[in-house]
Amino acid sequence: MRAVLVRQPGDASQLYIGECPTPTPKDTQILVKVKCFCLNRMDINQRQGAYPPPPGASEILGVEVSGIVESVGQSVTKFQPGDAVFGLMGGGGYAEYAVMEQELAMPKPDALSFQQAAAIPETWFTAYQALFFVLGLKAGEDILIHAGASGVGIAAIQLAKQAGANRIFVTAGSDEKTKFCESLGATRGINYKTEDWAAVIAQETANKGVNATVDFVGKDYFDKNIATLAIDGRMVLLAFLSGAVLDGVNIAPLLKKRLRVEGSALRSRSLEYQTRLRDAIYKHVVEEHFAKPSESYKLFIDKEFDWKDIAEAHRTMESNQTMGKLVVKVT
Ligand SMILES: NC(=O)c1ccc[n+]([C@@H]2O[C@H](COP(=O)([O-])OP(=O)(O)OC[C@H]3O[C@@H](n4cnc5c(N)ncnc54)[C@H](OP(=O)(O)O)[C@@H]3O)[C@@H](O)[C@H]2O)c1
Repeated sequence: MRAVLVRQPGDASQLYIGECPTPTPKDTQILVKVKCFCLNRMDINQRQGAYPPPPGASEILGVEVSGIVESVGQSVTKFQPGDAVFGLMGGGGYAEYAVMEQELAMPKPDALSFQQAAAIPETWFTAYQALFFVLGLKAGEDILIHAGASGVGIAAIQLAKQAGANRIFVTAGSDEKTKFCESLGATRGINYKTEDWAAVIAQETANKGVNATVDFVGKDYFDKNIATLAIDGRMVLLAFLSGAVLDGVNIAPLLKKRLRVEGSALRSRSLEYQTRLRDAIYKHVVEEHFAKPSESYKLFIDKEFDWKDIAEAHRTMESNQTMGKLVVKVT
């Protein structure tokens, strides 16, 4: 089969479409003929050689696809050849064929195109996990979501709104992005390039702070994140876009305010954990919303690419200009 391969770790010009063996599904897996896959930030890190796939996963980039079931493993009961599916995998998505655990695959509703379906798994799983599995967000709580116009941020804003969050503060790097986040349900979008987001939140919460924070930025925001959390506040750390090593940070507020800071990585979670997440999302996000003509959740595809333009797709993600998913069609 053909797949997007990496000549050597480096920039986007290292990506090319080459030949490699078609994967064979294990007993519990399905083989999917891929129609679309989506980009995720980890793909950039993996391309650069800085993020190896988990043990046993394909070395090929890509963790989410949509497509048609080509064949199934011996003990697969939930799918058969010809079914339209989408879902999450440990790796191998940037290819003509990819294997997926049957437990992580989801039947594609007719209401969704293959492009839309491929745009759901990684960002919605990550946001759902962050908000409900890790932060335990409750109705009436205030939340801060950084990188609000990122794929994960877009899902998190909508999930928080649907869950009855009181105020949803969001940071993003342009006024266009903050307005977009407000159109999704954010109470206050803060352009971190022109405003001091921690000061805005302190003022708007009368110095009480927020109950929960979703952070991807790490080093540059750690102090302010801690200062901005209310008593008994929780923060989930999903990435460290600005760096991971902290110098001269006063950790006293962690104790004084009884804060909980937890890191989370979806890709390395057990199959049992990911299956629990998949089941919750299929019921509460896909069946109750995306499968129906519902106005409650929206999917945003920033741009579609043919897979021969994969290098351009990676450069687009690296530009930090996107508001939504980058979808790639396998042709
Ligand atoms: N831990 C997990 O399980 C998990 C799973 C999936 C994704 N993630 C992480 O979640 C993040 C979002 O992923 P995505 O695919 O949704 O990304 P995305 O759509 O490409 O959006 C990322 C956005 O982050 C903002 N950003 C980049 N560098 C920044 C910095 N130094 N400071 C502040 N903001 C910065 C940029 O928007 P602005 O214009 O607003 O700066 C950028 O557009 C990534 O870091 C990814 O690695 C983690």
